[in-house]
Amino acid sequence: MISEKQKKILAFPYSKFDLIICDGSVRSGKTSIMSVSFVNWAMENYSNQLFGLCGKTVDSCWKNLVIPLTSMTYIHERYSIKIKRAEKIVEIRNGEVTNYFEIFGGKDEGSAALIQGRTFAGVLLDEVALMPESFVNQALARCSVEGAKMWFSCNPDNPQHWFYVNWIQNAKARNALHLHFTMRDNPSLSEKTLERYESMYSGVFYKRYILGEWVAAEGLVYDFGEDNITDDIPDSGEYAVSVDYGTLNPFAACLWCWDGKTATMIREYYYSGRNEHANKTDEEYYVELGKLIGDLPVSAIVVDPSAANFIEVIKRHGKYKVRKAVNDVIPGIATVQRYLHDGTIKIHRSCKNCIREFGLYRWDEKSNEDKPIKDSDHVLDSLRYYTFTLLRRKVGKEPYIPLYERW
Ligand SMILES: Nc1ncnc2c1ncn2[C@@H]1O[C@H](COP(=O)(O)OP(=O)(O)OP(=O)(O)O)[C@@H](O)[C@H]1O
Ligand SMILES: [Mg+2]
Repeated sequence: MISEKQKKILAFPYSKFDLIICDGSVRSGKTSIMSVSFVNWAMENYSNQLFGLCGKTVDSCWKNLVIPLTSMTYIHERYSIKIKRAEKIVEIRNGEVTNYFEIFGGKDEGSAALIQGRTFAGVLLDEVALMPESFVNQALARCSVEGAKMWFSCNPDNPQHWFYVNWIQNAKARNALHLHFTMRDNPSLSEKTLERYESMYSGVFYKRYILGEWVAAEGLVYDFGEDNITDDIPDSGEYAVSVDYGTLNPFAACLWCWDGKTATMIREYYYSGRNEHANKTDEEYYVELGKLIGDLPVSAIVVDPSAANFIEVIKRHGKYKVRKAVNDVIPGIATVQRYLHDGTIKIHRSCKNCIREFGLYRWDEKSNEDKPIKDSDHVLDSLRYYTFTLLRRKVGKEPYIPLYERW
């Protein structure tokens, strides 16, 4: 079954429009139907031509676009498909007609250079809002075969984003068919699945990825309340520490316990060299970490990746395993939001600085892109390092991978 909105994607090649833009919620049935429509159009109208299939990276394009497309029964019942992974080419044949679909990644340096040398009869750009504008303009410039069409899909971002301003708001002038999707436009999702996806996001990410709206990130970064605070300390579990390093700026370390279901921040250490009018040395901080940990068996200490010297100090002592934190800010924040929302993360009431920062940490509303104000973010950065580096690997895998983990 195909939804009414999806039928419009299938009808697009026969319309007066030169390009199609599908934006909206995650899992709303944009990419799958667009890729089918793209291949059908290419095979019906051209032979021996080159088409571009673009994702954020070459890898994400294989995973999110090419593999799902070429595994569809509908596609391999109609076409014979040859995948040349090393050459990044998918060759599709139907009787006498053969076309070539080359894979590109908007964020991959090599791809951007390669695309300049190509001549396309059409390109499909999946998750276009994650690509640089220069790559998209280059892809457009390469579509010089007569009758060439362009296909775009993305999830919403900030309303000041170049794709929203220059393409979506300009759709009419560009002769583009703009279709807005919500999860209800995907007929394959059951109520239960819809609810599960809805529970993965909150705050600005809920508005964008579930409601499909282009909204700015504003107000407090995290929706935090009494529900996220606990008075209990787990009896046992896997212990870990996360550190946001600072000498003049505050230094924040959190002690975590993962009991297989919940990660509790059980203690914190917070020191502001500026407020105390005295800086601590790395060795002194190391001693403080030891006091925070006590006798607990700690599996790893995750540290601010920019604190190379402090990482070295921990290593030299040879007592704890140390890891550089993964510092992807926005995916990290979205992951923390999700785990606060579904109760995976709890903060012990004694972690006063952490609770204080939750009430202060805000989005920078003057910025054109998602950016938190770098203030009152020390314990929260430490929390994010733990969550995005260690915790997300422990929480059970969902069959559907949220957008912010797909790249
Ligand atoms: N009409 C349909 N019938 C059966 N399955 C469908 C239909 N439309 C979409 N699906 C399936 O639903 C899932 C989500 O669809 P798709 O990947 O196209 O969504 P999307 O809008 O691109 O999502 P995202 O924004 O997360 O990339 C896929 O597994 C797809 O195969
Ligand atoms: Mg998609």
